[in-house]
Amino acid sequence: MKSPAPNDPVLAPHAPLTEFYQQPENRATYVNRLFDNSAQYYDWISSVLSFGMDKLYRRMALQKAGLRAGMRVLDVATGTGLVAEAALRIGVRPADLIGLDPSRGMLLENQKARSISLIQSIGERLPFADRSFDFVVMGYALRHVESLPALFTEFRRVLKPGGRALILEISRPDSQIGFKMLRLYMQKFVPWLARRHTSNPDLATLMEYYWATIAECVPPQSIVEALRASGLTDVQRKTYGPILNDYVGNN
Ligand SMILES: C[S@@+](CC[C@H](N)C(=O)[O-])C[C@H]1O[C@@H](n2cnc3c(N)ncnc32)[C@H](O)[C@@H]1O
Repeated sequence: MKSPAPNDPVLAPHAPLTEFYQQPENRATYVNRLFDNSAQYYDWISSVLSFGMDKLYRRMALQKAGLRAGMRVLDVATGTGLVAEAALRIGVRPADLIGLDPSRGMLLENQKARSISLIQSIGERLPFADRSFDFVVMGYALRHVESLPALFTEFRRVLKPGGRALILEISRPDSQIGFKMLRLYMQKFVPWLARRHTSNPDLATLMEYYWATIAECVPPQSIVEALRASGLTDVQRKTYGPILNDYVGNN
């Protein structure tokens, strides 16, 4: 993993992964296709990856970050809606919750399960007025954006004064043994399971890609620094075990 240049104004979450898409400019289309084609299996694989803790973890993370009923919430990279669902269970009203995602396939799955406003777009280009939300959350999608500064600048722009951003993300374990075990699990076992579960090869490829983005992601400290550089304050990173990270920042 190469360390990012300090103060990089673009700061991609990882270098181009050309073993998956030949040209860097094809990255977003490639990722979108993988999610579109795997959408119907996403909730199942998410549960497998997390040993069934995915829903509970998201809900606890939102609660710990201070999400409560009455807030106006934007769920960036909403996907099939696992974070959105957790927000609803905390008491956020459907009318106060907007989900955003570039993958039409993921949004269609989301729409089947609940009735909230869904918008097809990317986190680096939020189609909302300044100071629109009390709470902006992004679950496990940081590794798929083009530029962390662009993403966090948008988060800050659409947050009301006093609003909060929460980012849930996986990082590579620090220890060699932890890294090797996670690699075996995510790069080999989970794709194998995906191939057994469906004849659609894109789910297994998505899991292999998932691992590559984790292994190649910029270090957590670079994410913290990019959040601070965007103007968000009181930025904190909390870790749970060797791989789970919650980043929060206030506007
Ligand atoms: C691993 S899923 C996470 C879904 C959901 N947030 C969750 O916690 O389960 C990643 C999602 O990020 C979306 N995504 C990819 N590129 C994105 C971008 N530039 N901006 C916002 N979302 C993006 C994908 O379409 C996909 O739905």
